[in-house]
Amino acid sequence: MKKISSMLATLLVATGLQAQTHTFDINTSKVGGAIPSTMYGIFFEDINYAADGGLYGELVKNRSFEFPQHFMGWKAFGKFELKNDGPFDKNPHYVRLRDAGHSDKFTGLENEGFFGIGYKKDADYRFSVWARNPNGDGDVTIRVLLCNPNTMGERQQFSEEKVVVSGKEWKKYEVIIKSKATVDKGTLRLMLTRKSKTVDVEHISLFPVDVYKGDENGMRKDLAEALEQLKPGVFRFPGGCIVEGCDLASRYQWKNSVGPVENRPLNENRWHYTFDYRFFPDYYQSYGLGFYEYFRLSEEIGAEPLPVLSVGLSCEFQNGSKRTDAHVPVDQLQPYIDDVLDLIEFANGDPAKNSWAKLRADMGHPAPFNLKYVAIGNEQWGEIYVENLKPFVEQVRKKYPNIKIIGTSGPDSEGKEFEYLWPKMREIGADLVDEHFYRNESWFLATPDAKARYGNCGANRYDSYPRGKKQPKVFAGEYACHGKGKKWNHFNAALMEAAFMTGLERNADVVEMATYAPLFAHVDGWQWRPDAIWYDNLRSFNSCSYYVQQLYSLNKGTNMLSLTMNKKAVAGNEDQDGLFASAVFDKNTNEVIVKVVNAGDKAQPITLNLKGMKGDHSAQLISFHSDKLTDENTLDAPKKIVPQESNITVSAPSFNTEVPARTFYIYKIKK
Ligand code: AHR
Repeated sequence: MKKISSMLATLLVATGLQAQTHTFDINTSKVGGAIPSTMYGIFFEDINYAADGGLYGELVKNRSFEFPQHFMGWKAFGKFELKNDGPFDKNPHYVRLRDAGHSDKFTGLENEGFFGIGYKKDADYRFSVWARNPNGDGDVTIRVLLCNPNTMGERQQFSEEKVVVSGKEWKKYEVIIKSKATVDKGTLRLMLTRKSKTVDVEHISLFPVDVYKGDENGMRKDLAEALEQLKPGVFRFPGGCIVEGCDLASRYQWKNSVGPVENRPLNENRWHYTFDYRFFPDYYQSYGLGFYEYFRLSEEIGAEPLPVLSVGLSCEFQNGSKRTDAHVPVDQLQPYIDDVLDLIEFANGDPAKNSWAKLRADMGHPAPFNLKYVAIGNEQWGEIYVENLKPFVEQVRKKYPNIKIIGTSGPDSEGKEFEYLWPKMREIGADLVDEHFYRNESWFLATPDAKARYGNCGANRYDSYPRGKKQPKVFAGEYACHGKGKKWNHFNAALMEAAFMTGLERNADVVEMATYAPLFAHVDGWQWRPDAIWYDNLRSFNSCSYYVQQLYSLNKGTNMLSLTMNKKAVAGNEDQDGLFASAVFDKNTNEVIVKVVNAGDKAQPITLNLKGMKGDHSAQLISFHSDKLTDENTLDAPKKIVPQESNITVSAPSFNTEVPARTFYIYKIKK
């Protein structure tokens, strides 16, 4: 980390380098409009095993035996039978286990988890099962074993507890098991003792005791903490394409995702088959991480919840945008509109007056979740979307005038559909318009080629957006730099995003929120990359893109400040030598915060011309840099590329300094 001081500034002057400097004029005495608190947020979708097998703490796959292949994820042995008249009407299957019939044989079940089960030595795990002895002829002991099937050691099992099932009635049994080993791809094995009576088992579950905030039905701690540490302003969920479904039947239905977890019906996950070259036939949604948990998590991490609901159109990539029976006709939309209205009640309603609000209270949250936004449709396009959206807007507006409605502008950052939809969203009166762009480096840099191909791209994108009270705001709901030929989380992609985001910050009066996408990926189960946070069963790491998001979020300030060079925004334009910059003021910390990205391959001298400030000011310099652009963080080197901080002194009004090549700098200057 270089220590930059006024001595360096003097040196630059002495060596005549100031002639090439880039002067950034920052008017620190004229504080601009407020930066929305929602500005930098997160977008969660169950892609890449982000929910089951990821953030959701459950370690057992197919815990209710409801996958279409009922024993997927399980090995059943001895005498077993699948039954379907269990205690949970939406998940009726369960397994009957009988004595193996010989003193040397065994009956039981073994679950493989999600790419194995991760166990940590000395950590406690909460095992639970719904069970009964159907014959009511005595107690049944189930051995619960944590196993390592891949060991060369003498015994596969390294921890064991017992559950004793008594009585003919279904009951929930629970036991805490301490793991005596660290194993990344373990299993959970249940075995009947010898000469056992018959037992029925259902909803077999295993959670780490140490989940995020100790919540019931809680989240994997390291992953939820990584979200908390982003201090996100908004939390968009549950998708993405899974909101729409590959067909209407498999769309995300929030009403199925609330209430007792045992009775939330399984849904297909479209990411199991979307890419035949990343195929995961065991990818389903248990809905264990459902809308109650999403709202609770939003609250816990301090983000505004932003649910996305179906507009009655299944994914248009798969089904086209013509009026076929893949989509719901306008006159049959009421159940879909009711889903939105009921969700607002579920989140905000009075439990004494509304049954959805009562369900929220019964689930443990009598106070409202204070929902302010709903998005209707994800990446929809064409007339079909506009026609379907209208009645939603009318009814939501009428009943809940304070709820902000988010419409979409299709899957692309420009083009025919985008151009068609934006004016339509204005006409309909959407409060925000969701834009998506997964684009390569040249789009983020707005190179001449990219401008010729895409038109309005890069950090200048929002400079020319219409302003005014009647204009919808922008929600950059999904974006990431997909490096040409290198679709992974290398440093350069993150640097491009940092450069682009100066344009979000400069236009915080137009852009109300922005969420990088996707958020999570299991290293053994991803379908889409790059992603913000990666993990296996025991470890996780933050990508370079994550750190860029965090640097913006933690340093978002409270108000815009104007920053120009030769009276122009600094956005990597032709005469700007690969520099991008923006500035904000933070009223809470009394700091001027200047973000500068040097996307070029030469160090660039800059002068911060801090109008309204004089003398020496203590400051912090945060640097995000990698010597190699293709380097990235990994599970084995999770902190290879992380921001570095140092203290510096900034002399005002004119501070000369230098930004190294391929570097993101943040100056935090006490005023
Ligand atoms: O983020 C992955 C996918 O990209 C989302 O599901 C969808 O909205 C977009 O096409």
